Amino acid sequence: MSEMLNVALPKGRLGEKVYSMFEKAGFDCPSIRENNRKLIFENEKSSVRYFWVKPSDVAIYVERGAADLGVAGKDILLEYEPDVYELLDLNIGKCRMAVAAPSDFRDDPSRTLKVATKFSKIAGDFYSSTGRDIDIIHLNGSIEIAPILGLSDVIVDIVETGTTLKENNLEVFETIFPISARLIANKSSFKFKNALCEKVLRELSAQTGRENV
Ligand code: PRP
Repeated sequence: MSEMLNVALPKGRLGEKVYSMFEKAGFDCPSIRENNRKLIFENEKSSVRYFWVKPSDVAIYVERGAADLGVAGKDILLEYEPDVYELLDLNIGKCRMAVAAPSDFRDDPSRTLKVATKFSKIAGDFYSSTGRDIDIIHLNGSIEIAPILGLSDVIVDIVETGTTLKENNLEVFETIFPISARLIANKSSFKFKNALCEKVLRELSAQTGRENV
């Protein structure tokens, strides 16, 4: 059997976009488009095996070598700092990490700021760089509810269209950094499956409209 490239795709709309890019790059796997609950798909002819994983888990699969390549948001890479190669900015999945709060929120520097977030490291690093004393409340989702219920003063979260904030009467106070999807590689796979990895990198670079540097 020829060597297979194992690719972890983030489940959801972004993952579908990413698969289309890989397909165009010559790593097609028609069965993946069948609408079922299967999580692993392979096409020996294209030397590729895909698996759908939770977006926040992609980096773990790649770091540990269960996947050779994967696609993860810059937010996940900064939060978990996985030991992987970041090969390419795919220029998709664009959004931003931001501080948001109810529109009448005024920061009182004499008080500890209560910050609800899924991204404790990012929030911690951001506020320590500004010298602000904070109390982090780690949540796993629906972060926007926290300031409404008085659980926190502000949130640090991902903003894409801004709809979730708007519908919960919150607004962005500060953008922390822009986010986009990145192609990542397991360090030893990049060495031992280099020809396949380089082919993906080359083809995807061409699709993002600029060469990787
Ligand atoms: C993300 C994020 C915001 C929302 C932002 O949530 O945490 O809630 O998307 O998107 P918008 O600006 O386009 O409205 P996700 O869908 O991952 O759900 P969760 O955080 O509740 O798990």
